[in-house]
Amino acid sequence: MTTKHSIEQRLRELREDINQHNQNYYQFDAPNISDADYDVLMRELQQLESENSTLITYDSPSQRVGSTPLASFQQVEHQVPMLSLDNAFSHAEFVAFDKRVRDRLGILDEVEYMIEPKLDGLAISLLYRDGLLVQAATRGDGRNGENVTENVKTIGAIPLSLKGAPIPSTIEVRGEVFMPLDGFDKLNQRARSSNDKLFANPRNAAAGSLRQLDSRITASRPLAFYAYGIGLVEGVDLPSTQNDLFEVFVSWGLPVCDQVSLASNATECDQAFLMLLNKRSQLPYEIDGVVFKVNDFTLQKQIGFVSRAPRWAIARKFPAQEKTTKVIEIDVQVGRTGAITPVARLSPIFVGGVTVTNVTLHNEDEMRRKDVRVGDTVVVRRAGDVIPEIVSVVLERRKKDALPFQMPTHCPVCDSPVERAEGEAVVRCPAGLYCHAQVKESIKHFASRKAMDVDGLGDKLVEQLVANALINTPADLYHLSKEQLASLERMAEKSADNLLAALRKSKLTTFARFLYALGVREVGEVTAGSLAAHFGTLESLQDATLEDLEQVPDVGPIVAQHVVAFFELQHNRDVIVDLLSLGVRWPDVQDSAQLRNELSGKVFVLTGTLSTMTRDEAKELLQNLGAKVTSSVSKKTDYVVAGEDAGSKLTKAIALDVAVLSEQQLAQLITEL
Ligand code: IVH
Repeated sequence: MTTKHSIEQRLRELREDINQHNQNYYQFDAPNISDADYDVLMRELQQLESENSTLITYDSPSQRVGSTPLASFQQVEHQVPMLSLDNAFSHAEFVAFDKRVRDRLGILDEVEYMIEPKLDGLAISLLYRDGLLVQAATRGDGRNGENVTENVKTIGAIPLSLKGAPIPSTIEVRGEVFMPLDGFDKLNQRARSSNDKLFANPRNAAAGSLRQLDSRITASRPLAFYAYGIGLVEGVDLPSTQNDLFEVFVSWGLPVCDQVSLASNATECDQAFLMLLNKRSQLPYEIDGVVFKVNDFTLQKQIGFVSRAPRWAIARKFPAQEKTTKVIEIDVQVGRTGAITPVARLSPIFVGGVTVTNVTLHNEDEMRRKDVRVGDTVVVRRAGDVIPEIVSVVLERRKKDALPFQMPTHCPVCDSPVERAEGEAVVRCPAGLYCHAQVKESIKHFASRKAMDVDGLGDKLVEQLVANALINTPADLYHLSKEQLASLERMAEKSADNLLAALRKSKLTTFARFLYALGVREVGEVTAGSLAAHFGTLESLQDATLEDLEQVPDVGPIVAQHVVAFFELQHNRDVIVDLLSLGVRWPDVQDSAQLRNELSGKVFVLTGTLSTMTRDEAKELLQNLGAKVTSSVSKKTDYVVAGEDAGSKLTKAIALDVAVLSEQQLAQLITEL
């Protein structure tokens, strides 16, 4: 028989278990239970609670799912004002701050600082009474904020009750609510696929999610929290430093950022700043600077604050990753596969460490969603190594007469009517290689580094060659003569020679690179590698059926169709025949596996000047084949490759009876083995 006692017991167990799992998941990033098993526990809890509604506790994890929408948020007055931080934009400004701190304290030498990332979210105040979360409020203007308790209770990282001892009778924990990057990406992916408005950045997404009147919406958003300070406190002796406070937070079950440290002077603060700046792009959340706080609370009190901000802390900001600029023009570009892409030409803007002048607007749908117009002021963002993008338009600054951008109905290069396939976001010019833009782009792709790797054949040069009708297909590159090249504007004789040498060198390639270079739609580097390994020869790939192709790992029906369609076109087959007859070749796929075996672990030394490649390139080639390349000749050396003007290493090789290869022999070894 189930007694009230045993139900209470089971409820307690379930709550404890679930809270522990929440902490493992949200705080330690180390879940030790599957989502499905977690759901089973949660459902048992909800079931038991619904049968025994008098036993539902305020801090039960079942209370995190959100509840009926509010009509509006109530105002909350902060008993202790929520201050902001002053900013420093350079080390010099930080040094000046440190001097002010020491002057105020009359300390001549060093003051210790706690260093914390400046999390890019929004400040929140969490009021715990007798260990229970009773109120959560936004910062608002620092004196009055909004009561967002219902929403905050849905954030898994925030404990509904504090654990450990001693628990203060009243404690107001302050910290940052933010949205981790992976959650932000997923949220925007979801919004994109349901054609909803995208969030401009994780901070806006966090703020938008927290300010929902319907807490069930907040519950569905991936929010996180780190504690970093306190407001009102009663009934407990606080630790004496900021660093110790973090430890107390942890003992109460509150999450804190783990990228914190202590510094004993301004120089160490600068080092810590640079280290975090360096780490910025690897962190799973956004930070926009570093906060320095005098570590000792007694000193903090002595220094005091001004109305808006404490005088014992400062935020040193990172260079901005978002800036505003103007759209000068919107052009459309035609890509290699005919895809027509709108590109915004911007008034040059220095953001995230580079000057940005062009930003792609991807496709018609993206264009519509963002509604970027010529003359608009836009927010441009470049974070880490990510391609710059327009995040939003500053609508208040839009001119009245600005017209929405229209996608062209005809290809801007060859004037063919454009097409948009069902279910595709992209508009295409269907003219294929009858369209000059596609010819140019496919030749650029053919020559690019990961394809045939023709050194020195830049985009401008390809455009010049196509415009002068000197080339029309990738194969035409290998028909070019020195006279033709030298006839081009700004082409010196030496550069013509160099280009011809690079073209000659590029003829020796691998099957995978060659396939990638052909530019079959949807066949990127990885797929090209899989196709090459699976089919081994061009002949068997050309004759492959859809079914054959779908046997290849990572080839689905769409890729298979593109491959078949590519080889069905006589034009493509002609170009391939032409390329092969001009000397484009590669070691047999099986043979390269064998070669890899034979060269694996062999020790090479390269010396002298090589004529068809640099020593670094030869080194890379050999290393790719499993060989080792070292710099000095010894008895352990298997081969010395001697280029022109080889000196002492060659002499030593001969003395030690090490095999010496000429550059030609090396090439032969690689192609023929
Ligand atoms: S302490 C009395 N620490 O920055 C000092 N703030 O510009 C109050 N922030 O409103 C703030 N990370 O939203 C502090 N480690 C951190 C922070 C941090 C981010 C935000 C917070 C605050 C704003 C001030």
